[in-house]
Amino acid sequence: MNTVIFTLLLLVSGNVLGQEKPPHIIFIVVDDLGWNDVGYNNPVFKTPTIDRLAGSGVKLLNYYVASHCLPSRNMLMTGRHAIQLGIQRHGFGYHPRSLPLDETTIAQPLKQVGYSTHIIGKWHCGFYSDNCLPHNRGFDTFFGFVGAGIEHYTHSDHFNHMHNLRKNDDCIAKQYIGKYSTTIYANEGKNIINAHDQNKPFFLYLSFSAVHTPLEVPSSYLKQYESTIYDEDRRTYAAMTSCVDEAIANITEALEEKDMLKNSIIVFTSDNGGAVERSAGSNWPLRGGKHTIWEGGVKAVGFVYGELLPHHSRGTENTGLMHITDWFPTLVTLAGANPHVGKKLYGVDQWKMVTGEGKSRRDDVLIELVKDNKASTRYRTGIFKNHPFDITTRAAMKMGKWKLLTGPIGGASDWVKPKEMNSEHSVIEDPDFDATRMVRLYNIEDDPTETTDLSEINHHIVAEMLAKLHNFSKETLLGQSRIFPRANFDGMGECISPWV
Ligand SMILES: *[C@@H]1O[C@H](CO)[C@@H](O)[C@H](O)[C@H]1NC(C)=O
Ligand SMILES: *[C@@H]1O[C@H](CO)[C@@H](O)[C@H](O)[C@H]1NC(C)=O
Repeated sequence: MNTVIFTLLLLVSGNVLGQEKPPHIIFIVVDDLGWNDVGYNNPVFKTPTIDRLAGSGVKLLNYYVASHCLPSRNMLMTGRHAIQLGIQRHGFGYHPRSLPLDETTIAQPLKQVGYSTHIIGKWHCGFYSDNCLPHNRGFDTFFGFVGAGIEHYTHSDHFNHMHNLRKNDDCIAKQYIGKYSTTIYANEGKNIINAHDQNKPFFLYLSFSAVHTPLEVPSSYLKQYESTIYDEDRRTYAAMTSCVDEAIANITEALEEKDMLKNSIIVFTSDNGGAVERSAGSNWPLRGGKHTIWEGGVKAVGFVYGELLPHHSRGTENTGLMHITDWFPTLVTLAGANPHVGKKLYGVDQWKMVTGEGKSRRDDVLIELVKDNKASTRYRTGIFKNHPFDITTRAAMKMGKWKLLTGPIGGASDWVKPKEMNSEHSVIEDPDFDATRMVRLYNIEDDPTETTDLSEINHHIVAEMLAKLHNFSKETLLGQSRIFPRANFDGMGECISPWV
């Protein structure tokens, strides 16, 4: 687009910040980071940069994501709900599946109004064909890996140990073997920022592979935890988080040196709760963890930082209801572009809420609804047994202060204290927990840790929320199934690559 048209577009559309230039946007996702795994929620963790940015930005305290990476990543990219994408349950694995090719990624409208668009790290929106890769879906550059996770030093896949680090179409894993993922991404981020023409708007999706398993970290980050965390896994995990913190410090420093920071919006988020059972994450005091629909699985750590935020909003804690799909319309609008260029969004523009100039535009949020994940029909009992919404379906939603959970929870239902000084008595079980119970209702404002099920004394609230779930279920696509044939690894060369 030539600059005259670009300027005209900006004049016509204006931009929400009322300034000439659209902001640079740095979108940071830390994989599997738990609620209790940032310094500002847990002083044992050393994350000074995250704490400083969050402390002078806007902390989001009522912000929901999916219970695991795949739906969250795809919702983030599109502003559309997992139920609209058919991406809810199974991972893509090595099947020919992806974020559907007729969906619009956030990079596309940004690019249309002149942004340079970059992704570093984890892309989790499919890779079976070249068309699925981010540099063919609105991103100018891709430096990172496809799939769900990698080993942080070998950059190889857990499943088949093939390399998995690329720059656009090139496999670059070999030259980075033995170097640590988080450091590599930070360096690449610095290089991209240094090479960027600061007069042009900039979008960086910085998607760390940490703090996802495997638990690996350079030993220098462990020292600061020697006397505070005895459990070895938890110590490694904390050190991984501190390394991410340093990476963010380096990125913000690079922005500052290019004089870009003052015109940047930085968003920080986890993609789901900490993996309590399979890793060393902690969501304490919240209940449950990754893969569950308890708060520990779906309420995320998140904040927005930026000198562009109005002064009265800086350093605030925001309790407005927000969902991961809201970033798409919020950021695209902020950039002066039109978010409604593709299919119907589930996300809503929340900039006024973030800046404290208005309320959340949501009264409710659908957290999860997975039609093909049901408990036994035997459990369809009680007064809602004949409700049009099948209560054995796994679902969670919030309406105001209320949270309703139906069907299978998807994992442990305990409260787990972090294994830091003590490794004993860290699991607090619920003696009344009944896995056959299909309807649960909590008042999250009074009971953020989900201790007291109020469904029996609030039938009218349950009924209203089930009616909403029923409406959502009409719009719900079944999860895309695992299409065959699977990938043929033989023809791929060194790195895991498209095969169709
Ligand atoms: C941050 O930058 C310093 C100085 O260049 C470097 O030594 C360090 O490894 C970087 N940290 C990360 C996590 O990239
Ligand atoms: C469900 O959808 C119908 C039709 O759009 C609407 O009239 C009704 O109010 C909705 N119910 C709830 C509880 O939102």
